[in-house]
Amino acid sequence: MADPASGASPSFLLANLAAAVSPAGEAAPLRGGDLGRVLTFEPAAIAVVDGRIAAVGTPDDVRAAHPDLGSVDGRGRIAIPGLVDCHTHPAFGGDRAGEFDLRAQGADYERIHAAGGGIAATVAATRRLGRDGIAAAVSRHLGWMAAHGTTTAEGKSGYGLDRDTELRSLDAIAAPHPIEAVPTYLGAHSVPAGFSDGDEYLDFALAEVLPEAARVAEAADVFLERGAFSAEQAGRYLRAAAERGLALRIHGDQFTESGAIELAIELGARSVDHLEATGPAGVKRLAASDVAGVLLPVAALYLRRSMPPARALIDRGGVVALATDFNPGSAYCESLPAVMSLACTQLGMSAGEALAATTVNAAWVLGRAERLGRLAPGYDADIVLLDAPDWRHIAYHLAGRDIAAVYKRGRRLTQ
Ligand code: NIG
Ligand code: FE
Repeated sequence: MADPASGASPSFLLANLAAAVSPAGEAAPLRGGDLGRVLTFEPAAIAVVDGRIAAVGTPDDVRAAHPDLGSVDGRGRIAIPGLVDCHTHPAFGGDRAGEFDLRAQGADYERIHAAGGGIAATVAATRRLGRDGIAAAVSRHLGWMAAHGTTTAEGKSGYGLDRDTELRSLDAIAAPHPIEAVPTYLGAHSVPAGFSDGDEYLDFALAEVLPEAARVAEAADVFLERGAFSAEQAGRYLRAAAERGLALRIHGDQFTESGAIELAIELGARSVDHLEATGPAGVKRLAASDVAGVLLPVAALYLRRSMPPARALIDRGGVVALATDFNPGSAYCESLPAVMSLACTQLGMSAGEALAATTVNAAWVLGRAERLGRLAPGYDADIVLLDAPDWRHIAYHLAGRDIAAVYKRGRRLTQ
């Protein structure tokens, strides 16, 4: 018999699951005590119709509701929602293994950046790739993410910083992929060589790149930090992006509190990402707003920074999401399960909170919470099957190999 989990719009009944586990409720984003609540069916089955979830529940209930669907054997696995990585940088060439090793021996990330290494080194390597090379790099990196259970990933440009390479990066991310990729124009990542300062570079980027970038990207992002862009420059860039209909994101408070939270709230940004340097006043302000804090514990780990204030943000009712920050410099890691481990061991988050922060809330940051991030009727059939005795092994088993299968819109991705 043909595999029912194939074809353009697969329909099948995923049977023999040990359990199905999903963030509880229907709201998004989840905050405070709601963040950690999970709904569990044990044992379970999932009905998939035309690539969407039609039913999740006990095997008898799901079969009774969908008597005609062909079965796919779940082989005693545990189903969780496909993971959503809401902050990644997949469009780059080369690597920075040498810089990584220098940092291991005490070199400082910001000094490497100021000396023309870091982001600038990757910009040079990315420009050399050309259109096909960038497309190949993006699809390779998205494939790595899928192998770790990611079924939707945001992807930023930002390693081109010239017109052609930025647009090639966005096109490569927006192209069809086995997983869903959401392009973000990170035109204000760093001031490239050839411009006297950030203002002069922004004159160029806003006039020559943004109009075309905005046709492909869903959001714009800026690195608001000493040595990158000031709050004033970031505001100018983001306002211009908003006028073109883009959602707004900010890399902020990574090394210093430089006004990212205030700007994000003023402009109604979707998120401020990083927050390693955020103090109590910033936590209070952010938690009281509708701007998400996207926490990137791998970047903190790599650069030996203090971890972002996850517990305080959650306990004050803030919107918190987790992401890999996959990039060749500060976080060469495409694994959301590894991020979930760090959330539990370093950020004081429960496994349920880590699950919601990599599913429902991450989908909310990407404007997709109505169809991604839950195992529930009406949602896309984005499903991860775990070969583990308890769903929490996805966080508990650091660098484990618990992912047995990944489905995107009901279609099984090859591992
Ligand atoms: O999110 N902070 C700025 N950008 C990236 C890292 C860029 C790089 O080192 O290449 C980040 O950590
Ligand atoms: Fe980043």
